[in-house]
Amino acid sequence: MGRSSKNKKRKRSLDNNDISSSSTVAAADVAPVSTIIKTNNNQNQKQKKIKKKKKQKTSKSRLRSEQQQQQRFWNEDCKDLPLLSNYNNNCGSSISTKREWTAETEFNTIKNVIDIEWLMTDDDDDDDDDDKEQVNIDPIPLNEEDEVFESIKNCKQAFEDIPSFLFTKARRLTNKFEVLGKGRRFINRSAMKLANMDHFLKLIIPPPSSESKAESSSSSDDDCHFVGFADLCGGPGGFSEYLQWKMPSIIGWGITLNDSNADCCNWKIDGTPNLTLEYGDLTNNETILKFVARILSSSKCAKGVNLVVGDGGFVQARDKEDQETMMHRLILCQMITMYHILQPGGNFVCKTFEISNQFSISLIALLVSTFHQVAIVKPVTSRPASSERYIIAKNLRQRSSDKQLQELLQLNANWNDTKDDRRMVATTIPKIVYSKLKDIHYRLATVQEQACRAILEYATTQGKGGGGGHHSYHQAKTINRHAYYDYWGV
Ligand SMILES: C[S@@+](CC[C@H](N)C(=O)[O-])C[C@H]1O[C@@H](n2cnc3c(N)ncnc32)[C@H](O)[C@@H]1O
Repeated sequence: MGRSSKNKKRKRSLDNNDISSSSTVAAADVAPVSTIIKTNNNQNQKQKKIKKKKKQKTSKSRLRSEQQQQQRFWNEDCKDLPLLSNYNNNCGSSISTKREWTAETEFNTIKNVIDIEWLMTDDDDDDDDDDKEQVNIDPIPLNEEDEVFESIKNCKQAFEDIPSFLFTKARRLTNKFEVLGKGRRFINRSAMKLANMDHFLKLIIPPPSSESKAESSSSSDDDCHFVGFADLCGGPGGFSEYLQWKMPSIIGWGITLNDSNADCCNWKIDGTPNLTLEYGDLTNNETILKFVARILSSSKCAKGVNLVVGDGGFVQARDKEDQETMMHRLILCQMITMYHILQPGGNFVCKTFEISNQFSISLIALLVSTFHQVAIVKPVTSRPASSERYIIAKNLRQRSSDKQLQELLQLNANWNDTKDDRRMVATTIPKIVYSKLKDIHYRLATVQEQACRAILEYATTQGKGGGGGHHSYHQAKTINRHAYYDYWGV
């Protein structure tokens, strides 16, 4: 502390002493202590009451002004928005409901806050023949839900006219879980998505402690069962970072595109003796096979890895109407790589978008026939307004034959010369799986549509000088992210 500030401090305290020591007032003039305390208490209470009233008044008038702004928006601006006025003629009904957040509801949310649809689990293996009935793979029909999809489409179009700073702000303020993506030890929110899914789905199993290892007579080959992962399309590296943090002894191989926009997606973590990072285009068979060879020729994981994570995505496809189709090939290639390197018993995580057209469904059919458990998952850390979701495939049944691998590689090699409807990797799917795919498709679309409309509402009111979806803002502020981190163990 500087001398002058020390002196000032000292002076201030001296001044206080001066006051008390100079306050030599005749004893008769002094009210009894209890009276003073009482009077002070009364005054304090009065002041408190006034403050409380003021606060109530302010929040009431804030609420009134929010309601007025909302009303103005619905009365005046809503008409200008084709999306909102077209939607179910719902112009005027509030799109987001303000929920009461109490510690209890929050804890229940923390526990349950992930949307998992198990398409098929081990239990289904023994199920009756009804569940094994196969149906042809058809695109998922829109049916009665088509206005929801229409609304999402309109929203995505409307987003293009919103300045990006405003869009980002609106997205942040209307998603109460947005805060979960930042400020926790990892380089990006992707890492938090994997942490979130890993917590609920137990994707990596830490190796047994050395004592329990000694007790079990496991051979050294089994060690590999616990230690290897591959991070496909992994830049900037949040997934690898999370996995290495969760299990420091883990050995990983990562590959990602050397992006022209290096700021966005190139590796931002360093390779280590335990983590080999490289660049390459995974839609190229040669790149796939070189990557595969590097892993299988390693001394540690010659039998393959036990976890493959694939998070492929590219900016050109983001929020595009045909995002699902644009992602087909990259998802296929991540699956081809996975089938080459995953050990039986291993797990696979792969980012996907809508799964509604024939090719996407055929990829799911292939996974369902080769893994014991398959789920579609939307972690809370994945923005609700996006179409993003993850495929989780657990416990690979067996290695694919060379012939099967060759067929997949061939499909990729001939990709551009093959018509859409000839690209299928399966032609039938269990009826029950198809029906569950439909369920989750509609369910996620409903949530997505609400989130999209909240963003649009915020951006539009804010853009026109209104208050901009304050209810959503309050929701965004109310979650306690540390409670979530603690629950997920990160
Ligand atoms: C959403 S990011 C992945 C984020 C990453 N999981 C993390 O935790 O940081 C998508 C990545 O896919 C990569 N990608 C896109 N197309 C690719 C391709 N053909 N081959 C390899 N990587 C690709 C992008 O360059 C980008 O790094």
